[in-house]
Amino acid sequence: MKRLRFGLLVLGFSASLAQAADPGVAQRVEQLLARMTLEEKVGQLNQLSGKEFTGPATDKVRSMEAEIRGGHVGSMLNIKGVADTRRLQALALESRLKIPLLFGLDVIHGYQTVFPVPLGESASWDLAAIEESARIAAREASSAGIHWTFAPMVDVGRDPRWGRVMEGAGEDSYLGSRIAAARVRGFQGARLGGVESVMATAKHFAAYGAAIAGRDYNAVDMSEHQLHETYLPPFKAALDAGAATFMNAFNTLNGIPATGHAALQRDILKGAWGFKGFVVSDWGSVREMVVHGYAADLPDAAAKALVAGSDMDMESNAYSSALAAQVTAGKVPLAQVDDAVRRVLTKKFELGLFDDPYRFSDAAREQAALNDPRHRRAAREIAAMSIVLLKNEGAVLPLRRGLRSIAVIGPLADARRDLEGGWIVKSGADKMASLVDAVREAAGPGTRVQYAPGCDVACRTTEGFAAAVAAARGADAVVLAVGESWDMSGEAKSRADVTLPGRQGELFAALRAIGKTPVVVINAGRPLIFEDVAEQAPAIVYAWFAGTEGGRATADVLFGDVNPSAKLPMTFPRNPGQLPISYLQYETGRPVRDVKNIVYKSAYIDSPNTPRYAFGHGLSYTTFAYRDLRVSDARMRADGEITLSFTLANTGKRAGREVVQLYLRDPVASVVRPVKELKGFQLVALGAGETRQVSFTIDREMLSFFDRKLAWAAEPGAFELMVGSASDDIRLRQAIELTP
Ligand code: NOJ
Repeated sequence: MKRLRFGLLVLGFSASLAQAADPGVAQRVEQLLARMTLEEKVGQLNQLSGKEFTGPATDKVRSMEAEIRGGHVGSMLNIKGVADTRRLQALALESRLKIPLLFGLDVIHGYQTVFPVPLGESASWDLAAIEESARIAAREASSAGIHWTFAPMVDVGRDPRWGRVMEGAGEDSYLGSRIAAARVRGFQGARLGGVESVMATAKHFAAYGAAIAGRDYNAVDMSEHQLHETYLPPFKAALDAGAATFMNAFNTLNGIPATGHAALQRDILKGAWGFKGFVVSDWGSVREMVVHGYAADLPDAAAKALVAGSDMDMESNAYSSALAAQVTAGKVPLAQVDDAVRRVLTKKFELGLFDDPYRFSDAAREQAALNDPRHRRAAREIAAMSIVLLKNEGAVLPLRRGLRSIAVIGPLADARRDLEGGWIVKSGADKMASLVDAVREAAGPGTRVQYAPGCDVACRTTEGFAAAVAAARGADAVVLAVGESWDMSGEAKSRADVTLPGRQGELFAALRAIGKTPVVVINAGRPLIFEDVAEQAPAIVYAWFAGTEGGRATADVLFGDVNPSAKLPMTFPRNPGQLPISYLQYETGRPVRDVKNIVYKSAYIDSPNTPRYAFGHGLSYTTFAYRDLRVSDARMRADGEITLSFTLANTGKRAGREVVQLYLRDPVASVVRPVKELKGFQLVALGAGETRQVSFTIDREMLSFFDRKLAWAAEPGAFELMVGSASDDIRLRQAIELTP
């Protein structure tokens, strides 16, 4: 498969290297710290937003410019571009100690070149591609004066009602950990301090993805087990990959706001894990501790947050207004303030800002990076790798070239801005191809391509259906593009009903009513529920919000110029009542073994337990066979390793890539284990008819779980290894035994 690689990729940090402080930097930090007043120290912990707000308004400071000049601001967010970052940096250099500002921004899935939303990109399971898209985003953002991105979001998401699943890597902790590390490596490059590297942020620490009922900002209540085994590992993986910063979260965790959570931030993150970077609060989350009922007032919130290990205050004005007085009053140890300031200054030194505060704001580099055509090509390839072929009955897809006419119908058929998704820096919709444009380009001049929207995304009326039906009537092929608009997924975009919006389902039915069998393309930032479409459409392509080149990438898949290989990183339910849902189920004492017999079983009486599409599901235009599983030894010693291998064959007529997935079950353990857990995966590209040996190394870590003593342990006994094409499509199994 053709891949774009242009040498931007470099090796990531090793864990020890990543978190080790440079002695030269440490010395410079101490010298500077010794010269700082308490007020100046607090200034370094204060982060303010520029005019663009990415959260609710807080009390505005009298004059931002005066505050910066006065040394009361350590960092800005929502400022971008060479001109603006230079202007504000110049003000910081007028302050007594001339400490440069850090510019942070939500560069979530691209800066100028927009890649698929992170959940969609995660469906590629292609770590190199994911790293590359973050590298390109870093290259563009850093050229425009940005030092720091508030990404990756590494929250595990198992409830598509929560709009922010769009920003993460889905439901699985292992896949999420691998992707978290890839994104950190991509953003930060070989080392911090390179002008094309931005600091990454592992967010939101922690457990934000488990907001009750999928309602954003809601409380989280979870067992220690679940926290350590599922929700924390992606953070640890981000840290091991070198993540320079962490962001805490809006939620309470078992009654304590994450922002004021000392056990999370001090004991685990900075203690047990040895994190040397700094923690930024989420937007206004220090202040929100008052609303939660955890702090009496803003000064109390400032004290509780700092003492709990929140180093920088984003837009609460809590530290700037109250922290110094709390130190003087003895409520906050000065040593803890010093520790926070040290962490922030260390990053500023590591970025090279004291040597050249403007090194990231380079007009020539900005021009070159933002207009680099390679970025756009990579966006198209990565988008195509992210698009999941959910269904393809009777090999309806790929579409043949040379058809007389194609009707492209639906509220998202001519969308551009929607394809970019949420959390973009600046829309480039005017320079994008919609799906209709892309189908026209791909089909060529001999094919007549007709377009009719049918309705808009909200689809409250059926007035436009007749025109859509008329356009479809005589067409040789019908493509129907439905789904969400860009602003239906993301922060504060929880939906209680995650079905297709409005009457979109009726548009599909109207096309069916005239005997058409449309190929359905779905754009969304989350798993949606679309039961009629799932049952009746012959082919379904889940195209997420695939970014700047989303239209063309979708056409690449529809016409078979790219053979799809993406696999779902989240379970797709049949019914909202199944939420939250993931493939990581625990066996009950009354499992359903036969769907016809659910009396006194753990079942719904009005819906199957099984999802519509399982985690790991995704089809290809070719087929793969799995054969001849072998293990080097069926018994493994506690300190040993064994190798599992099998043959993968491309049994179809075209080249393709398969994501082979390795799952494990520990059937009897001191703590009941899930029926299946992902433990490994590989992307294997094979030509038609080609076969390849695929191997995985099984080690003790793979067999470990978080035990009753709240420590990782592997218990001797039997394990079952499963290899397959999806969590519900296991092709090969092998029992092994871990000996004492
Ligand atoms: C709030 C969001 O939760 C966070 O992810 C984001 O980075 C900040 N706002 C800054 O925009």
